[in-house]
Amino acid sequence: MMHMTESLTVTEISVPKVPTLPDAQTVTAVTHWTDRLFSFRVSRPQSLRFRSGEFVMIGLMGENGKPLLRAYSIASPSWDEELEFYSIKVQDGPLTSKLQHIEPGDQIILRPKPVGTLVLDALLPGKRLWFFATGTGLAPFASLMRDPETYERYDEVIMMHTCRDVAELEYGRQLVESLPEDPLIGEFVAGKLRYYPTTTREDSAQMGRITDNLTSGKVFADLGIAPINPETDRGMVCGSLDLNTDMKTVLEGFGLREGANSDPAEYVVEKAFVG
Ligand code: A2P
Repeated sequence: MMHMTESLTVTEISVPKVPTLPDAQTVTAVTHWTDRLFSFRVSRPQSLRFRSGEFVMIGLMGENGKPLLRAYSIASPSWDEELEFYSIKVQDGPLTSKLQHIEPGDQIILRPKPVGTLVLDALLPGKRLWFFATGTGLAPFASLMRDPETYERYDEVIMMHTCRDVAELEYGRQLVESLPEDPLIGEFVAGKLRYYPTTTREDSAQMGRITDNLTSGKVFADLGIAPINPETDRGMVCGSLDLNTDMKTVLEGFGLREGANSDPAEYVVEKAFVG
């Protein structure tokens, strides 16, 4: 009888108080770049296939028991066995105030449904591909810069990245500088990837907003290349709403038209997640 009661009790409490997270993935590494920026790696669902440049919804379980999810570009290439993300830390941000404290072994929620417009298929064929990013808008390009197909489709790839200060460029700088030596992707990248990092609020070798460096022609002069031309050049933009709006004007000024998955053209835009 005693035994039965015990087993009944056990049955009752066997429903976990904290439900197992749906779509849980395990954090494998976390790097803090500045007090505003960090990157992390998580296990990859075996079934997840994605195109470089796409995003997924990730997050944590909220205190109300509901998942708190935001769109995050996948920063790792499709051949990587893990997934990498690059995030801002906002001290009062609903998600990132908590997400910034994750450590290896912790679990996050990841909905394995990749989507997005920053994909090679949304652009018409061309010769030069430009990546324009501010802040964490670098993330989709961290994936695309590591995809062999990017270099198979284009003769030259130019990564323009602008941040307020030098420390905020570091994640992108280390990535770009590691690529020519990378055993998997190095042979595709070598001689094809140009990097043009700038700062706006701290002195550095190259300064100024992406928009200003394009309209003034400074970036073309510094790299010794011809200006953007709709016959040859394709662009992808990822940053704040303001950057995206301003970049549309700049790129349309060069004669490029906005494309989409269903209607490829000369440039595509996506908002970087903030908050
Ligand atoms: P600035 O310092 O002149 O504002 P943030 O850290 O606020 O997300 O900004 C990232 C970078 O993007 C900063 O260097 C910032 O320059 C730049 N930036 C912000 N808005 C625009 C815009 N509309 N056009 C071009 N660059 C922008």
